[in-house]
Amino acid sequence: MNNEKKGVFISFEGGEGTGKTTQIALLADSLQKKGYEVAVTREPGGTPEAEKIRDLLVQREGGDWTPMAESLLLFAARNMHVKDLIAPALAEGKVVICDRFTDSTRAYQSYGRGLDRNIVEGLNNLSLNGFSPSLTFILDMPVEQGLMRAEKRLADNLSQEDRFERMDVEFHERLRRGYLEIAEQEPGRCHVINAGRSVAEIAEDLERVTLEKLNV
Ligand code: TMP
Repeated sequence: MNNEKKGVFISFEGGEGTGKTTQIALLADSLQKKGYEVAVTREPGGTPEAEKIRDLLVQREGGDWTPMAESLLLFAARNMHVKDLIAPALAEGKVVICDRFTDSTRAYQSYGRGLDRNIVEGLNNLSLNGFSPSLTFILDMPVEQGLMRAEKRLADNLSQEDRFERMDVEFHERLRRGYLEIAEQEPGRCHVINAGRSVAEIAEDLERVTLEKLNV
């Protein structure tokens, strides 16, 4: 697993209710219309084994994990996901769009739940050899706004995956700050997108930045 590949690996990041799923679908559609082969996937999950780990981690009844155990499970799932889906798709020259990747572990388990950042980086090196997206969009909006949207989704019964959504507001503030710090540390890879705007405005920004990257 290394970064030498033909395709381009793009990740979407952000707190709860920031609209990643909608924007990923729009970006995938517009790239496909331009002739790109696109694979859309998500974390935790993306392959049968990794989806089993997802259920343990994100569902209400999945268990009460320590941040360390959570991270070990996340990187176990990520290792399978990269080997079985992401790396082969990149080797075929596809644009791979992943809903969350290692920055989520940095934000949620480290900034949010307090796990030492070096442990996350150690697990990243151990299980993925440091494999990383070449472009990451961080969808950013005020925490209350995102949580309101996530709560509505739960109330409409569209999701049982609320283990993290139910953490307190301070937790969500810490991970928002974490994402902004990650973006400052890696400005070449990470683009912070104001997700408080209209769907169309956000989609336009995402498409422009992506096409710049693809045409390099
Ligand atoms: P989703 O709701 O965006 O599909 O993500 C599932 C949940 O899993 C979300 O609450 C964030 C959490 N998560 C982590 O805590 N760490 C991670 O590394 C990943 C990928 C997700």
